[in-house]
Amino acid sequence: MDVKRITRPVIIGVAADSGCGKSTFLRRVTSIFGTEVSKSHTPVGEFITVICLDDYHTHDRMGRREAKVTALDERANNFDLMASQIQALKEGKSIMKPIYNHETGEIDPPELVEPNHLVVIEGLHPMYDERVRDVLDFTVYLDLADEVKVAWKIQRDMAERGHTLDNILASIESRKPDFEKFVDPQKKNCDVVMEILPTELIPDDTEKKVLRVRLLQDENCTHLEPVFLYDEGSTIDWVPCGRKLTCSYPGIKFHYGPDTYYDKPVSVFEVDGGFEKLEEMVYVETHIERSGTKFFGEITQSLLRNPTAPGSKNGTGLVQVLMAMMMRNVYEKVTGKKVSVSSS
Ligand code: ADP
Ligand code: G6P
Repeated sequence: MDVKRITRPVIIGVAADSGCGKSTFLRRVTSIFGTEVSKSHTPVGEFITVICLDDYHTHDRMGRREAKVTALDERANNFDLMASQIQALKEGKSIMKPIYNHETGEIDPPELVEPNHLVVIEGLHPMYDERVRDVLDFTVYLDLADEVKVAWKIQRDMAERGHTLDNILASIESRKPDFEKFVDPQKKNCDVVMEILPTELIPDDTEKKVLRVRLLQDENCTHLEPVFLYDEGSTIDWVPCGRKLTCSYPGIKFHYGPDTYYDKPVSVFEVDGGFEKLEEMVYVETHIERSGTKFFGEITQSLLRNPTAPGSKNGTGLVQVLMAMMMRNVYEKVTGKKVSVSSS
């Protein structure tokens, strides 16, 4: 695709604390847009560019230690440069973006980033600075309950990185004040928030493996057409037929209805629990309205494309797919163009 013909780049912000599933979610997004996935956070495929905002860290790891600031702190991030570069991409201009090297903890030489049809900025602060927020066409926040955050961190950092439990808990605790000050407040003004909470289906669950996922959709967002179950505006609790959707203990429960979130009207789509067979999701899909699919079964097909991705068999995977469809719809609405997909 010829990048010079990009007349209206669409820019979307995805915010969350680290380890809260941004990369996992963005892999689903890129797969819905039919593009390739890259680990590098720089141009992914021909259509989407994902920018990791860690690249705008002002200090390297050592510098943060000396200055006694965390990466979450406003002072540890160059918002002036971030704003000017995201605005430049919005105007269809190339930028020389800095790189924060997570392996070495150092700042590497900058790299060229060309404008693209869809630019996703992901990280701790996509909506923190007003100048950056003003150029975003759509905003997403991934909000993990503390208990789930701890469980995921333990799974990743103990199993894959050899950290001790005490280290993990201490690191989460030490980040908390800055997380609450600089990252968490962004969720109030986001177009969609995905909350990941412990299940309510198991009393006093300690494992935190079964999840309750809530998709909060701002009723007043210009580009968003909220998904619903059965009947828009009604309040629905739905336990699907066990013969059509195979589930082991504790089963699965859906909920949909109006609510308020920081005093604004939202509609909530909720999934508590999990299911066993991905192909049976097509039964649930029949009852999800205005999901933005382009053909019957697209949600199920999308889950089947990444069967081993975390969350494929619970509400996290399903809600991620729904949010990815919303991003595609926003792109189409803003640009007036259609994204072509294949049903094969
Ligand atoms: P981030 O990009 O925000 O740092 P990742 O996508 O890398 O987060 O996910 C962090 C960890 O959480 C990984 O170990 C991943 O496997 C796990 N994880 C992500 N999404 C889910 C999910 N839906 N269910 C269970 N674990 C998940
Ligand atoms: C977290 C933050 C990143 C930051 C990293 C630095 O993962 O989400 O934004 O780059 O911490 O960690 P370090 O160990 O290098 O201080």
